[in-house]
Amino acid sequence: MKFFIDTADVAEIRELNDTGLVDGVTTNPSLIMKSGRDIIDVTKEICGIVKGPVSAEVTATDYEGMMKEAKVLAKIAKNICIKLPLTMDGLKACKALTDKGHQTNVTLCFSANQALLAAKAGATYVSPFIGRLDDQGLDGMELIEEIRTIFDNYDFKTQILAASIRTVNHVKEAALIGADVITAPPATLKALVKHPLTDKGLSDFLADWAKTGQKISK
Ligand code: G3P
Repeated sequence: MKFFIDTADVAEIRELNDTGLVDGVTTNPSLIMKSGRDIIDVTKEICGIVKGPVSAEVTATDYEGMMKEAKVLAKIAKNICIKLPLTMDGLKACKALTDKGHQTNVTLCFSANQALLAAKAGATYVSPFIGRLDDQGLDGMELIEEIRTIFDNYDFKTQILAASIRTVNHVKEAALIGADVITAPPATLKALVKHPLTDKGLSDFLADWAKTGQKISK
């Protein structure tokens, strides 16, 4: 399973990227707004930090506009993945961009049929939003299961990028189902390592080690 960071905060990206556990980054207009930075500047900086795909989202809603914006975004760096909304124009742009050899991420996916369309449009990734479905009293993880089944039925190569991940349980459940990628905010990724028994075990080991008076490296 690949781990993408869902943020445009360069300091957070640098810190997590240094762990070697990060495979890519996803951004969206809201995350760019939160960063307070120019979309081109900040995306360029992110592309220089992370080797893997960096999703940059178009904001035009018509096919022509999306294609124009995609051209600008694609010029930022080789590892740009063009993010497009799950609309008919977005799918059309996805098909055209995929045919030209670009990586694509079709976002704002809330149904299995939408994911099926993204796969048919040749998307590299489709992003089902788990947390936002849960917010509506629905089951975001059920959508991941449905998409996994459909993609496996037809051997679609589009990767399931579980997005709107809010909890460590979301990560575990997406992994159990077989989502190809999760994208999560830095805090959620950092929380994955935490377990009280790890902390307690480590502190007990260190206390006993101190009693030995030994040192491994002199
Ligand atoms: O990248 C889009 C998605 O992950 C947004 O998450 O928490 O705003 O629903 P959220």
